[in-house]
Amino acid sequence: MKVLVATEKPFAAAAVDGIRQETEAAGNELVLLEKYTEKAQLLEAVKDADALIIRSDKVDAEVLEAAKQLKIVVRAGAGFDNVDLAAATAKKVVVENTPGQNSNAVAELVFGMLVYAVRNFYNGKAGTELLGKKLGILAFGNVGRNVARIAKGFGMDVYAYDAYCPAEVIESAGVHAVANQEELFELCDVVSLHIPATPETKQSINYDLVGKMRKGGILANTARKDVIDEPGLIKLMQERPDLKYVTDIKPDADAEFAQLEGRYFSTPKKMGAQTQEANINAGIAAAKQITAFFKDGCTKFQVNK
Ligand code: 3PG
Repeated sequence: MKVLVATEKPFAAAAVDGIRQETEAAGNELVLLEKYTEKAQLLEAVKDADALIIRSDKVDAEVLEAAKQLKIVVRAGAGFDNVDLAAATAKKVVVENTPGQNSNAVAELVFGMLVYAVRNFYNGKAGTELLGKKLGILAFGNVGRNVARIAKGFGMDVYAYDAYCPAEVIESAGVHAVANQEELFELCDVVSLHIPATPETKQSINYDLVGKMRKGGILANTARKDVIDEPGLIKLMQERPDLKYVTDIKPDADAEFAQLEGRYFSTPKKMGAQTQEANINAGIAAAKQITAFFKDGCTKFQVNK
């Protein structure tokens, strides 16, 4: 079987070595398409692939149509909004993710960005500390739980809301559960987003919701660009010079956000999961899932059941 790793943003070399080892030990062939710049390169490479490992790479109906031999796509990571699930299902292609494998890396970046924000982006003026601040975690999945763990080390007072996670589960992790997202924004000094991009969440972080934040509020986004109502957030931040926005996903309106001097920061390229450890964990997990799929028909992590 031919296993194609197609990554616009490549894995660390050690992760690729691990993926190769796992794939070849199972008697399969590994093909690499790294740092591609044109969709045409992906369309060409998938033609004879039986399995595909990707990151945020877009696998749409056109890619699936070109991939005549394809049986399985594994998104080495958590969010799978970059894969057209309906088109994959129609073609009987199994889609999987590797939940939890890169979540610590993303959670650590949240704090990198938060320290940067409360210290006024290192402009030399006295900033503030995270100790004692109220942190709101929106969605208590793998990343949210790691954020809660690290926040306690900073001495933050931690709150969370997750529409799909019972309050008792949140409370059992030593985190205050709140009744809804409005309450989370009202209560907290900092809100960190960990929601997936779904029809329900897209543009849900909007003028009204963020407008509920207390004075000096900070919004941190290591989730997805699409969950933000960008015009609404820009309007609010123009009206409220006390608010800050830090993000790991460059907004479409980056230039407009950049006008909000000293209150906005975006990483140049999505960096949350870009650590050797996360690449190794997620990449090798993806390779192992493919081995198990071809060997035993295992579809434990299938997301298009
Ligand atoms: C994920 O959904 O796992 C993260 O957003 C990481 O995405 P990346 O693999 O493109 O860095």
